Amino acid sequence: MLIKTSSRGFDHPVPSEITSRETYQGRRELLRLMATGAAGAALAGWAGRQALAQTVPKPGKLATLAGGKSAVAGAVTMEKITDYKDATSYNNFYEFGTDKSDPAKNAGTLVTKPWSVAVEGLVKQPRSYTLEELLKLSPQEERIYRLRCVEGWSMVIPWVGYSLSELIKKVEPLGSAKFVEFITQADPKTMPFVGSRVLEWPYVEGLRMDEAMHPLALLSFGMYGEVLPNQSGAPVRMVLPWKYGFKSGKSIVKIRFTDKEPRTAWNKAAASEYGFYSNVNPQVDHPRWSQATERRIGEDGLFAKRRKTLMFNGYEAQVGQLYAGMDLKKFF
Ligand code: MTE
Repeated sequence: MLIKTSSRGFDHPVPSEITSRETYQGRRELLRLMATGAAGAALAGWAGRQALAQTVPKPGKLATLAGGKSAVAGAVTMEKITDYKDATSYNNFYEFGTDKSDPAKNAGTLVTKPWSVAVEGLVKQPRSYTLEELLKLSPQEERIYRLRCVEGWSMVIPWVGYSLSELIKKVEPLGSAKFVEFITQADPKTMPFVGSRVLEWPYVEGLRMDEAMHPLALLSFGMYGEVLPNQSGAPVRMVLPWKYGFKSGKSIVKIRFTDKEPRTAWNKAAASEYGFYSNVNPQVDHPRWSQATERRIGEDGLFAKRRKTLMFNGYEAQVGQLYAGMDLKKFF
């Protein structure tokens, strides 16, 4: 079975599968009905479709979990999901330009086939994985995560992938490994802004080992039941819902285990503005603007209210413990 390629021209078929749009929309509908208390009547039809889907054995099938629930606590929200069009036409992917509309316009040149991700550094099992091998490494599931950008906007997106911890366990980090570095593709031939002076290339991000092992940290291959469109970081990216969006590196080619805190792209560009942790925190303002509220993409009407930004983007119950005792004003 092939991964569901996008109906919008993104084509990186791989031997796995992402939940079909129909199943995904069925789940969304159920979630909506549950919210309005009208689920009972709809459940029969929905459950029937699910049962049918389950009877066909499909190796590597994306886990279809009852009621749209994910096995990972905190991975489902009742908030309205951002429209696909909004989520894929308002992006940050500086390799393709700095304007929000640039990635959708320019990322068509990104070559995603063949693709491999090298795992190196302080691990017992360093090796290179083809995209196909990565997809088969663990069952994928859908996680509906809020993603909040440091610039003050947010989206709610059904991502598809598995916890990065699944890969980390396979490669067996050494005891000396304290951090994970994500190095992304930097090919000036296919990425027109690589080489521009806005950032140092390649775009690099990093996590502390316990953050990287947290089940919410998602290695993502798809969204909305389809492969990632190029502008969203095809064919593989990170999604870290409790951190500002820039921590979620796109189009990853290397994952390196180190004993030193990695210098990240935004930290190198402006150390006083972008710290290593970059946890969503309404109490710590960016030096040039407040982080107390956010604008939800797609709710841009004249009278649309800004939402209050939540500590750790609303995932405090899941991740707060990772930072117990830390001064989050100092480690911003
Ligand atoms: N990854 C790469 N390789 N290059 C980038 O410029 N931008 C980051 C992050 N990942 C970026 C990147 C920033 S600033 C944000 S807010 C998110 O991607 C945006 O993700 P989205 O476009 O899927 O919303």
